[in-house]
Amino acid sequence: MNVNRRKFITTGALATSAMAFGTIGLGSGCNSQSTADKEPGKNTGKTNIPTRKLGELEVTALGLGCMGMSYHRSFIPDRQAMIAMIRGAVEIGVNFFDTAEAYGPLVNEELVGEALEPVRQNVIIATKFGFKDGRPELGLDSRSDRIRQVVDHSLKSLRTDYIDLLYQHRVDPNVPIEEVAGTVKDLIAKGKVKYFGMSERDFNHTIDGIELIRKAHAVQPVTALQSEYSPMTRQPENEVLDLCEELGIGFVPYSPLSRGLITGYINERTRYNPDNDNRPGLPRYQPENIITNWGIIDILKEFGDHRGLTVAQVALAWLLAQKPFIVPIPGTTKLAHLQENMWAAEYKFTPDELKKLADDLSTVEIVGERYSGGYPQQENK
Ligand SMILES: NC(=O)c1ccc[n+]([C@@H]2O[C@H](COP(=O)([O-])OP(=O)(O)OC[C@H]3O[C@@H](n4cnc5c(N)ncnc54)[C@H](OP(=O)(O)O)[C@@H]3O)[C@@H](O)[C@H]2O)c1
Repeated sequence: MNVNRRKFITTGALATSAMAFGTIGLGSGCNSQSTADKEPGKNTGKTNIPTRKLGELEVTALGLGCMGMSYHRSFIPDRQAMIAMIRGAVEIGVNFFDTAEAYGPLVNEELVGEALEPVRQNVIIATKFGFKDGRPELGLDSRSDRIRQVVDHSLKSLRTDYIDLLYQHRVDPNVPIEEVAGTVKDLIAKGKVKYFGMSERDFNHTIDGIELIRKAHAVQPVTALQSEYSPMTRQPENEVLDLCEELGIGFVPYSPLSRGLITGYINERTRYNPDNDNRPGLPRYQPENIITNWGIIDILKEFGDHRGLTVAQVALAWLLAQKPFIVPIPGTTKLAHLQENMWAAEYKFTPDELKKLADDLSTVEIVGERYSGGYPQQENK
């Protein structure tokens, strides 16, 4: 790693250098290095984002969540602009992209497929099945025939003949998890899918999520568990992360910026488009709760202000520092935000800093559950 560049990155020159995507090398703050890292002299035109392992699958330390480009984040940007945005992410060096049948539904997979078709062999695409007709509002459906149907459709939408990582989006209490894992195992044997993932550990209080993951893993090894995790949503800590460590499962935090809240960009005055946004219906985004929880943002800002980091970067760096098998997938529609987020992989906390930040964050008691009723149920939001 070029020490001067590291110093440059961590001493506050981030915003002014946002256009220098191809020239800034990121360091190896993670447990393994990308090929580009191993060839420092080679000008690939890409930044050297470190890589991490989700089970056997090697991906960049941060991925790109593509949902908001078509679904649930109020505005839907111009499609061509989003294709350019995804290709820009590849140029920067991101290789891990997250979508789902339910995002849109269908149209987000089509967008991601078109954008990544020219570079398909160089990227890792994750998608998800699990809802009737791909529509969360219609309920869950993880029957074997349905999974096979979704996969065939996703392959078409994604313009590919294999899906790298296929998640069950939500557990379907009507289909035994062993049956779901068995179906994915068969799809892996057929070459249509490479790796199996699960999203959210439990559907409701009647299912022991930990036991469920163990049962699935016994049939088909689970490569990654995707669940909400951020400085504002700490439920995966201890039990779930310990299980991932024990079984060699990677952990993919979704909504790692708490749907934009942990950036300072949205606040109690923010107006959402209720036709395309789930936040107005979620307790955390009610104006009074945003105000009460703002202490988290103050703490991240205070930490970042002294180190040349933005609120979003501190939040992402903090997540990465929790475990080496954690790979957050922040969503954005802006290349500048994407670059900012990727730079978070560069920051390395000292043990004292990390402890102080953890202590400070623990002083804020978060109000408002993350989903109505506390569980994501049929919302894939
Ligand atoms: N498995 C599941 O059930 C599930 C559920 C939800 C999400 N996900 C996945 O997780 C991904 C990310 O989750 P998410 O979109 O809900 O939440 P998120 O990543 O926490 O936040 C995304 C929001 O933050 C904003 N943002 C991102 N970087 C920023 C920056 N540096 N500065 C200011 N604003 C920034 C984005 O707006 P701009 O576009 O303006 O940057 C966007 O509105 C999704 O795309 C999806 O792939 C999965």
